[in-house]
Amino acid sequence: MMLIGHRGLAGLAPENTLASLRAASAHGLAMVEFDVRLSRDGVPLVFHDDTLERTTDGTGPVAARDWAEIARLDAGSWFAPAFAGEKVPSLEQALGLCLDLGLAVNMEIKPDAGREIETADTALALALGSWPDGIAPPLVSSFAIPCLEAARRVAPHWPRALLLEGLPPDWRERARSLGVEALHLDHRTLEAEQVETVRAAGFSVRAYTVNDPVRARQLRDWGVTGVFSDFPHSS
Ligand code: G3P
Ligand code: MG
Repeated sequence: MMLIGHRGLAGLAPENTLASLRAASAHGLAMVEFDVRLSRDGVPLVFHDDTLERTTDGTGPVAARDWAEIARLDAGSWFAPAFAGEKVPSLEQALGLCLDLGLAVNMEIKPDAGREIETADTALALALGSWPDGIAPPLVSSFAIPCLEAARRVAPHWPRALLLEGLPPDWRERARSLGVEALHLDHRTLEAEQVETVRAAGFSVRAYTVNDPVRARQLRDWGVTGVFSDFPHSS
């Protein structure tokens, strides 16, 4: 089972920063997940929340700031003084570092409401332009169906996964119509029978966010092929 660093490796370094990607690599992880959204001026950047407060020294919505403003913020001090001066990475910077480190990538597209297609189009175009032939392409995931539809249009041969909190009644139709290879499900409500049903329908299952190694082993035994973790010890 693949252990996928969540937001880089969010338990050991400030989430969604280059330091977090380096931490994942330093702890031997082969793959990382990070979140991608847009600045006001349409630059794809690596950031989880809608707003800046929790993980930077800025305030207000990310979508209300241009990239030049966001790039000046401190995205490390909130986590620990040792990370003071750590920046919000652009998607370009994050992908470049993952390539340098040999990390496989799961790009989660996290659009602001109303910018779903713009966010996916912009992120995928940039990633396509910077990803070399011959290296396994990023896995593209999203809770937002329009983002996955856009990803299929822009990068049809790149793998996609549908993020869900639980399994809605129409999950098969959604997954089939989007052409995804996997469902990424919240492990807290996940049960063995659901994993079996999803796998029997031809989709892989990955589970977020699993920080307990005992739970990770249980999920592996159920047939889950990857877990997202904030820590390196959940394999
Ligand atoms: O992609 C898995 C996981 O990151 C989804 O939840 O809120 O941590 O982005 P969230
Ligand atoms: Mg995420």
